[in-house]
Amino acid sequence: MKSPAQQYPGYKMKKIGIIGCGAIGTAAAGFIQRNLGKGARVTALCDIDPKKAVLLSEKIRPRPIVTTIDDLIKKSDLIIEAAGMHISGTIAKRAVFYKKDVLIMSTGGLLRRTSLFKKARTRGCRIYIPSGAICGLDGLISAGIGKITRVSLTTRKPPKGLKGAPYLMKKGIDIDRIKKETVIYSGTAEDAVREFPKNVNVAATLSLLGIGPKLTKVRIITSPAYTRNVHEVEIEGEFGRLFTRTENLPSKTNPKTSQLAIFSALAKLKELI
Ligand SMILES: NC(=O)c1ccc[n+]([C@@H]2O[C@H](COP(=O)([O-])OP(=O)(O)OC[C@H]3O[C@@H](n4cnc5c(N)ncnc54)[C@H](O)[C@@H]3O)[C@@H](O)[C@H]2O)c1
Repeated sequence: MKSPAQQYPGYKMKKIGIIGCGAIGTAAAGFIQRNLGKGARVTALCDIDPKKAVLLSEKIRPRPIVTTIDDLIKKSDLIIEAAGMHISGTIAKRAVFYKKDVLIMSTGGLLRRTSLFKKARTRGCRIYIPSGAICGLDGLISAGIGKITRVSLTTRKPPKGLKGAPYLMKKGIDIDRIKKETVIYSGTAEDAVREFPKNVNVAATLSLLGIGPKLTKVRIITSPAYTRNVHEVEIEGEFGRLFTRTENLPSKTNPKTSQLAIFSALAKLKELI
């Protein structure tokens, strides 16, 4: 197969920097090395735990540098954020500052920084959001051309998938004592992202592409009988009604991350390169 450089004269190999060398970062690095040929190369890695970045760098040829967030952004053409929503907003901001394209997995960190999308456009770079662990975003974007009256997300997760959420502590909910199907949370996406920071990138993505975090409704339900993370998306508007249900299997490397979320990052990379 012809490389992008052969197919498109003038194409320059993209230097990719990955921030966060866990399940998604590692899968992305492997995919780029195996599947994107001469179109792209992982040239820099960063992790808050430098050992993880060094370990991953040893598996890639030529070996990428292990460096800081700012240095990585400066030296890359495309940055992949796969670290967490506590840092994703800052990463997007720094990428836009340096006029670099950035793929954000932890979309929750963008909810308070939506002006960055416009800023990126004016600076000639892009913030990419993969579809993550849900389906139906194409329909949501199309529906937004007309009037959308309702966007709701119902997330079903096994109890262990919700462990450690600030909301449970605040409400004194002992997740291990739940014996039957229970609605744990019902409210806005804005509050859900704060109360379940490790669980609701899906709610954030829907908010960013739809009617915003204040109007997007979220329900989180758990039961010891659940074995999968299931997301149901319902959208109503001028176009009619749309309903999608995604039954996710957890990734083998991080049970909190759905395999489809990892695939969505890889599919986005394939589309971009
Ligand atoms: N959009 C979606 O649908 C979706 C789905 C799953 C996960 N996510 C997001 O993607 C992120 C990565 O997922 P994962 O499964 O690879 O998680 P993971 O826990 O396997 O890996 C995260 C890595 O980031 C590193 N890290 C944490 N804070 C950092 C910082 N400040 N700077 C640099 N590195 C840092 C950790 O040490 C770890 O190696 C998650 O935190 C989540 O926010 C999004």
